[in-house]
Parts: sequence; C-alpha cells; structure tokens
Amino acid sequence: MYPYGYPEENYRQQHQLVADLAKAVNGEYSAVQCYEQLARMAPNQSIREQINEIRNDEMRHYREFVRFYTSLTGRRPNVQINEGCPQTYREGLDFAFRDEQETVDFYLDIAERATTQEMRKAFKRASADEQSHAVWFLYFMTAHR
Ligand SMILES: [Fe+2]
Ligand SMILES: [Fe+2]
Repeated sequence: MYPYGYPEENYRQQHQLVADLAKAVNGEYSAVQCYEQLARMAPNQSIREQINEIRNDEMRHYREFVRFYTSLTGRRPNVQINEGCPQTYREGLDFAFRDEQETVDFYLDIAERATTQEMRKAFKRASADEQSHAVWFLYFMTAHR
C-alpha cells in the first residue's frame, strides 16, 4: 500500500503536463514568428500563401493551448520565443520540416496525458495538422531546387 504515493504521483504528472503545455505554447508562438519570415522569403505567391495558411493553423493552436494552460493553472503563460529560426529560405524549410515532425509525436504524447476530453481532441487534431505541415515543407524543399 502506498497511502501517500498517489497524490504525489498525481502532483508530479500535473506538473509535467503544465511544463509540456508551456513548451507547446512557446513552440506555437515561435513557429508563428518563424513562418512569417519564411513566407516573406518564399519564391512565389502560391508557396507564400500556403505558408501563411500553415501560420494560421499555428495561431489557432497557440490560442487553444493558451486556454488550456490558463484553465489548468489559473494564470496566463509567460510566453517565450525559442531561438534558432534560420535566416535563409532553404535552412528555414529544413528547420520547419524537422520541427513539425518532432511536434507530431510530442502532441500525441500530450494527448495521452490530457486531463479533459477537449484537450485530448485538440492535441490529436494539432498533431495531425503538424503532420500535414511537415508534408508541405517537404514538398516546398523538392519544388524549387
Ligand atoms: Fe502547431
Ligand atoms: Fe505546424
């Protein structure tokens, strides 16, 4: 029997979930900034529009995740930009592709630990969005060699 084990474990899991939500919020916010730069460097209008569509998805994710963070903690997240957004178009595509692919798994992992059905659904949907974004960035890489 572990009479005190369960609440402690609960606290630890909750703490980890809040930390991961904060990381997700920062990631979305950083992607919005980075994709704005990337869209400006795009070689043509159709790619620029597609990158802006992706950016709109990230803004929606950002707003959703801020809401989850705020309802879980009772305060707004302290948003920080991740460094590392490349300055050239090709490096930017490579960076974005890798980042999107990693985020697919990260969000599925959060979905499994979500505290509400709504949060679970939102992270599953966001994970599918990131997978689709990754495919677009891969396409942009091959489209203009
Ligand atoms: Fe996103
Ligand atoms: Fe994305």
